[in-house]
Amino acid sequence: MKVLVTGGAGFIGSNFIHYWLKKYPKDQVFNVDALKYAGNLENLKDIEADPNYPFIKGDISKYDEIEPIFKKEIDIVVNFAAQSHVDRSLYDPYEFITTNIIGTKNLLELSTRYKVKKFHQVSTDEVFGDLALNSKDKFSERTLLKPSNEYSATKASAEMIVMAYNFTYKLPTTISNCTNNIGPNQYPEKLVPLAITNIMEGKKVPIYGSGKNVRDWLHVLDHCSAIDLVIKAGKVGERYMIGSDHEEISNIQLIKKILKIMKKDGDWMEFVTDRLGHDRKYAVDWSKIKKLGWKPKYKLDDSIRLTVDWYMKNEDWWKKIKSGEFRKHYEKVYGNR
Ligand SMILES: NC(=O)c1ccc[n+]([C@@H]2O[C@H](COP(=O)([O-])OP(=O)(O)OC[C@H]3O[C@@H](n4cnc5c(N)ncnc54)[C@H](O)[C@@H]3O)[C@@H](O)[C@H]2O)c1
Repeated sequence: MKVLVTGGAGFIGSNFIHYWLKKYPKDQVFNVDALKYAGNLENLKDIEADPNYPFIKGDISKYDEIEPIFKKEIDIVVNFAAQSHVDRSLYDPYEFITTNIIGTKNLLELSTRYKVKKFHQVSTDEVFGDLALNSKDKFSERTLLKPSNEYSATKASAEMIVMAYNFTYKLPTTISNCTNNIGPNQYPEKLVPLAITNIMEGKKVPIYGSGKNVRDWLHVLDHCSAIDLVIKAGKVGERYMIGSDHEEISNIQLIKKILKIMKKDGDWMEFVTDRLGHDRKYAVDWSKIKKLGWKPKYKLDDSIRLTVDWYMKNEDWWKKIKSGEFRKHYEKVYGNR
């Protein structure tokens, strides 16, 4: 089987490539990545010489640049490539439109022309907007798309084009909507790695607004196994929600868990001006994929502990990032702390 992973040098894509090659060692996994700020080939250093892992530097928003890959008779496309950080969509939304919408359109067009057997779109629970903090509702496959920022709006737009290709051109597509991931290789602008690495640097953890926002947290490898199952057993033309099984948890409670593991007290939290249009709560009903036989393997406390361990053991990885491009972004969002 030939699998094309886009955005494989990023957080989830790199974990997915490792997951796939370990589980299906006879498959060939092509990784096309434009190596934007979050793309890091160090995430794949251990397999760079593996003939079953060809890397191609390419931008999915440039049709001609990625067409040659499709001539290699790709069976499955898994589209991770995206601009993925809400904060950045407030400052540079055009990058989101170019990659998340035009890039997905190009992949769909090429997948149709070259008769790919399955196209899987990796999406997010953020496309459904947010829930009130006291709401008992959960997003499900029947929830209407109602994005609230330009990250989620571009992911929702991409999904609609995926659905159009399935309906109009009969391209065999599936979509998954996953909740927040944690684990190794995540760029340290996102809440969990930002918290861990700030504490390691002796800096406080910036927390938006009241910190009461609620998220679901899932270990990245549980996300990978869910995508695998949807590709193999999911119904063509449908979507699957992917969520976690822990109790509702606010951002403050999550950071307190990290602080406890790192033996620090609550003084290490610093409340900062809230993000514009900050979604209050996400919660996911994943009973549909459960019926296919999936459930998360990692408990929340284990996922957090493993993630803290990884960042503690891989200082070189994140220090290089934090001393470079990241710094400009951090100052733009949180000021010069
Ligand atoms: N991180 C989460 O918690 C989460 C949750 C649900 C869904 N998702 C989705 O999963 C996917 C991966 O997220 P992530 O957190 O790994 O993101 P990431 O930002 O870590 O990685 C994105 C990767 O895409 C690459 N890329 C960006 N623009 C590109 C382009 N034009 N052409 C080719 N490559 C390009 C980047 O270089 C990077 O390697 C995204 O589609 C995101 O919407 C993420």
